[in-house]
Formats: sequence, structure tokens, C-alpha cells
Amino acid sequence: MEIIRRPHLMQQTALDLKRDRLKIAFVPTMGALHAGHLSLVRRANQMGQVTVVSIFVNPTQFGPSEDFEQYPRDLGRDVDQLKELDVDYVFAPDPADMFPGGSGTYLYNETMSNRFCGKSRPGHFRGVLTVVAKLFNLVRPDFAVFGQKDFQQAALIKRMVLDLNFLTEIVLCPTVRESDGLALSSRNIFLKPEERQAALVLHRALRGAEAMVADGEDDTEKLAEAMRETISGGPLVRLDYAEVADAATLEPLERLDRRAVALVAAGVGVTRLIDNTLLEPPEEKQ
Ligand code: PAJ
Repeated sequence: MEIIRRPHLMQQTALDLKRDRLKIAFVPTMGALHAGHLSLVRRANQMGQVTVVSIFVNPTQFGPSEDFEQYPRDLGRDVDQLKELDVDYVFAPDPADMFPGGSGTYLYNETMSNRFCGKSRPGHFRGVLTVVAKLFNLVRPDFAVFGQKDFQQAALIKRMVLDLNFLTEIVLCPTVRESDGLALSSRNIFLKPEERQAALVLHRALRGAEAMVADGEDDTEKLAEAMRETISGGPLVRLDYAEVADAATLEPLERLDRRAVALVAAGVGVTRLIDNTLLEPPEEKQ
């Protein structure tokens, strides 16, 4: 496994691999790797002949009052974990090399960026799309693997690939959870024990919505309201949003007449957590 620090060396390596007609599978991350990230790496190994994992805490996707400085960083431990898997290259650039002074070009989506997490975190998805586009230009992936855990992010990246004709196939992997249902997140280490317990309310709200759909409920506002009640009723938790949207477009939905996604976000202590689940229309259920 080779560690590459400089963007131009990553790009040269990718171009050499492409010249040799090798398929590149790519997993972009911000490090502090956990079993969720590693599941994406295993999937990438199945998709391509060469696996590249990037580790880059992207400053442009953090707001001024967000946790960029506190975000967990442990490159040594991340590299050790990736060595255990079949990873060929780790790309771990410095922010100064990725965003040299004077960068002025950013990407954003006019319709999907400003709702849900984009509403609470202005500029967040602009930072995500910009860095992912840069990473795609440096790594030249045939496949890029993302987690369903960050559903809105994955939907925006799929849309960017479509809108801007990137030659990368986006592969989505299911959310990896703790045995009690909490979605794995690099930020979970910030949770105090009682907050860790309180955070389970997100998962409980999503399971509640699934159960209502299984009972035939197709009114998305009723589903959203039930999730809000569950989350607001929990201790130590501040509801940010709980919504049901069209899974493909993230547009609001009145009835569950197509594939939908239930999305939730809440603050627990100083930590912001998100989760989601896909909801199939009742009649399509077996
Ligand atoms: P990060 O939060 O490190 O996540 C990297 C990838 O891991 C994302 O695709 C995310 O959806 C996935 N992931 C996180 N938790 C997961 C879980 N419990 N199960 C399955 N997959 C999970 O997302 C980012 O970094 C950044 O925004 C990035 C795309 C790298 C751009 O900076």
C-alpha cells in the first residue's frame, strides 16, 4: 500500500493506471475510519482492480462555527486499518495543497443543496461537491463508493455526476450500525455515555416510521410528525429535522406513492447526528 500526499502525484499515478487499462475504485473519506468506512472499502475491492482511499478533512465543508478543528484525526491508525484490507493507495493531501490560496471555483446544486442538512449547514454541500469533484479529477475513478448513511450527500453526488458528465459510477452501500441500531459515525466518539444512549432515539424514530408504513400509512406528513414526536420526546436531544422525501430527487412528497426516504437529524450534546431509512410504497411491499 502506497501513501500519496501530493495532488499532482495522485493524478499522475491515476493516469498511469488508466493507461494500463486498470479499473480504479475509490472511497473518499475524512478519516477516523470505522467499520462503516471499511465496508465501503471492501465493496470497492470487489468493483475495481485498484482501490484508492482518500483521507482528507475538507475545510470547505465545515461552517465557521462547526467542528473542523475538533474533527477526529488519526492517520496512523487509519493507515493500519487500511493495510489489513486490499487497498493499493491512500491519498492523504494537505489542505494547503488541495486549496491553494486564491481558489475561487465552487460547485453547488441549485435545488437539492438548501434543504435538510443544507438548510442547517449553509455552504456544507458546496464544500462537499467541490472537494468530491476535485478528488474525482485527481483519482480518475471508474467507481466511487459512498454510504447511504449520508443520503443527501450521495444523492447530490449522483446528480453532479449526471449533470456534469463525470465518467464515474456511483455505488451506494448500506449503513453499518452498532448492535443497538446507532449508525456508526466518526463523531460518535464525542458522545458521553448518557448521550450515546439518548442518540438511539434517531434510530427508534426511523423504525417507527417503517412500522407505520408496514401498517399501511402512506401520509408522509403523519410519518414525519410521528418521527418528530419520538425525537423531541427523548432527553438530551435537539431535533433539527425529520422529513420524508422522494428518494431520487429529495423533493417533498405528500403520499408514499414512490420510493421515499425518511431523513432525521438532531443535536445530542455538542454532536450533530443524522440517519435515514428507505421507505417503499405500501403496495410494493410483499
Ligand atoms: P466521511 O464522513 O468520512 O464518510 C466517508 C464515507 O463513509 C461516506 O460515503 C459516508 O456516507 C460513509 N459512511 C459514514 N458512516 C457510515 C456508516 N455507518 N455506514 C456506511 N457508510 C458510512 O462523507 C464524508 O466523509 C465527506 O463528506 C466526503 C464525501 C469524504 C467529502 O469530504
